[in-house]
Amino acid sequence: MNKVVISGSGLYTPPHSVSNEELVESYNTYVNEHNQLNETAIAAGDVDALAHSSAEFIEKASGIKSRYVMVKEGILDPKVMMPLIKDRPSDALSMQAEIGIAAAKQALAQAKVNAEDIDLVIVACAYTQRSYPAIAIEIQQAMGTKGFAYDMLVACSSATFAIVNAVNAVQSGTASRVLVINPEICSPQVNYRDRDSHFIFGDVATAVVVEKASIAQSEHAFNVLSSQCFTDYSNNIRSNFGHLNRCDPVASNDSDKLFHQQGRKVFKELLPMIYQHLDKQLSEEQIQANEFKRLWLHQANINMNMFVVRKLLGDNVTKSKAPVVLDEYANTASAGSIIAFHKYNQDFKTGDLGLLCSFGAGYSIGSIILEKT
Ligand code: COA
Repeated sequence: MNKVVISGSGLYTPPHSVSNEELVESYNTYVNEHNQLNETAIAAGDVDALAHSSAEFIEKASGIKSRYVMVKEGILDPKVMMPLIKDRPSDALSMQAEIGIAAAKQALAQAKVNAEDIDLVIVACAYTQRSYPAIAIEIQQAMGTKGFAYDMLVACSSATFAIVNAVNAVQSGTASRVLVINPEICSPQVNYRDRDSHFIFGDVATAVVVEKASIAQSEHAFNVLSSQCFTDYSNNIRSNFGHLNRCDPVASNDSDKLFHQQGRKVFKELLPMIYQHLDKQLSEEQIQANEFKRLWLHQANINMNMFVVRKLLGDNVTKSKAPVVLDEYANTASAGSIIAFHKYNQDFKTGDLGLLCSFGAGYSIGSIILEKT
């Protein structure tokens, strides 16, 4: 089988940042208006009063301080509470393709690869802005890549699962150079009126080049030593948004069509699955966790990541072992671990090992062991 490397990565950061304080001010204004408007019904016990959110809670419970968004207009307006993203005509480049291409160009440059050398593009993310034609095929056309292209959705594990697909394609000879792109535009799916989740997501795009080791040119390359995927069905992280929504007009704008979760349950149920999954992979590969120079983990919650790090490596672990980007970017669905990888791999020397690992809705876990070439 062909040996496979990740030879370049790229990161596109959207133009607008939103702080916890800004979000909380807007949310609390909405709450005050709601409670005032429903004063009588609340007093009669017919409507629940809403409670304020707090920036301190958000940072303590999640580690998130801010997030980037493509469009800020509307998000902080208590009468709107969603990004007002203008529709584009069908013959214009879509927003997801635009930001995906920006990240992809960086990944190609680092890999020292031209667009026409790519023979497979996989766009992998939590949401695509349309079903077809695939965003990946739009990017193929816009960048001039060859071969074929497709989109795939596995929520927060989309990026790692797509890298596994890319590795399989290269190993089997279906493709020799693959561009994996994660254009995560999550802000439209945030329920900014929901205290439990109004702070969770941000927008971003990441990309990596996956190619046959024998043709790789880049000094930034990492051998893929092992890649594994795991899924186990759960309703605890869910969005019912989809093409059937319009067929039930009464329910089509209900809040279940946006991201919602049982955060505590996710914590309790997903963490043991992550430990077991990694334990199995490490014992199969005969690698000890302390051999990893770095863990590039999914970026949903800092406390969750600390549990994973402590379980794998014990208590005395420096911050640089598992870098945090969610403080600045928030949860960016599948892109989080790729942002961490992109920003924190330059100090790797030949033979150093790292673990790229995502976990989230599905449930889904994707883990890839990398070795610097
Ligand atoms: N501001 C202030 N207080 C809030 C609040 C907010 N925005 N949201 C919730 N609270 C309150 C709750 O009402 C609760 O109060 P109580 O103890 O009086 O009942 C308290 O804070 C704790 O709420 P809880 O929901 O248990 O918080 P948590 O510590 O579990 O943190 C999450 C919430 C969402 C940050 C956390 O559960 C999480 O990130 N889980 C992992 C989820 C995950 O990884 N999902 C993947 C998504 S892709």
